[in-house]
Amino acid sequence: MDALKAILKKYLSQRTRQGACKFLYSLAYYAEYFLWGGKFKERVLLGLLRQYYASKFRREWIFSGQPPHFFDQRMTYFSFGYGKRVVGPYSLFRGFFVADILRDGDKLLDIGCGDGFFARRFHAARSAHIDAIDIDPKALRSATSDNSAPNIVYCLLDAANQPFPSDTYDVVVWDGAIGHFSKTDCIQVLEKICKVLSPEGVFVGSESLGKEGSDHLEFFSSLDDLHLLFKPYFKHVELRCVSYRIGVKGETTRQEAYWRCSNSPKRLQECHWQEYLPAEGLSSDN
Ligand SMILES: C[S@@+](CC[C@H](N)C(=O)[O-])C[C@H]1O[C@@H](n2cnc3c(N)ncnc32)[C@H](O)[C@@H]1O
Repeated sequence: MDALKAILKKYLSQRTRQGACKFLYSLAYYAEYFLWGGKFKERVLLGLLRQYYASKFRREWIFSGQPPHFFDQRMTYFSFGYGKRVVGPYSLFRGFFVADILRDGDKLLDIGCGDGFFARRFHAARSAHIDAIDIDPKALRSATSDNSAPNIVYCLLDAANQPFPSDTYDVVVWDGAIGHFSKTDCIQVLEKICKVLSPEGVFVGSESLGKEGSDHLEFFSSLDDLHLLFKPYFKHVELRCVSYRIGVKGETTRQEAYWRCSNSPKRLQECHWQEYLPAEGLSSDN
């Protein structure tokens, strides 16, 4: 490339070179447009993808007879970004809440990772390493095919009855999965989480409140239930609830609980919104 530039410089004037460059850029612009551009192409491609995901949803959740234990979150993401119905970002909040607490270089454990969407799209950008575990081979097949990354290791593993892949983690995520465990298994997992969390480590997760999920073994009706469950294990238990509409036509309201627990207040406080105090002399009151 450098040799070509040197030859062109030698034989062509600066003005000719600039004109040629302009011509080549407009050629590239139109080539791009005809190959990949245009509103029509976008409409057709999005329409195809919309039909693809709608059909996937019908096959997996209506016609299959036995719905999966995890959701292909690409469907959630697509309907948020390109769906006809306005759904809002609420089903993705769990990912944002974990992303908010992550520090560069964290080691993270994702329990019941499902299709790996949140591990790959939300947790992997900051984490140095992620162990993402699930008991369902189908979930892991989906995760490795759609959401693999060099810093994620997917493991087929029963979180309650088998050892975690490593002895220490900065962040442990248990999103949308705690209800899939029996009461005894849940206690077992919490004890294991306490053992592997680093001193400033954070346990973060989410679960729908009420009777949601045909494959659930345990239900939590309020934030009080979750507080009662976590308090024996953590000095600091932070909880909040967000309600939003779900279902094909938005016919159901989901109450989703989120938690952040730790034995040190440090990382929790780092995420808190603070009343902003301007630097001395810069206050608008002056
Ligand atoms: C509803 S999915 C949640 C997936 C993902 N965390 C998310 O938020 O989209 C619950 C997952 O927990 C997994 N699971 C249930 N029992 C488990 C166990 N004992 N050990 C590991 N994973 C388990 C299920 O296979 C399922 O993939």
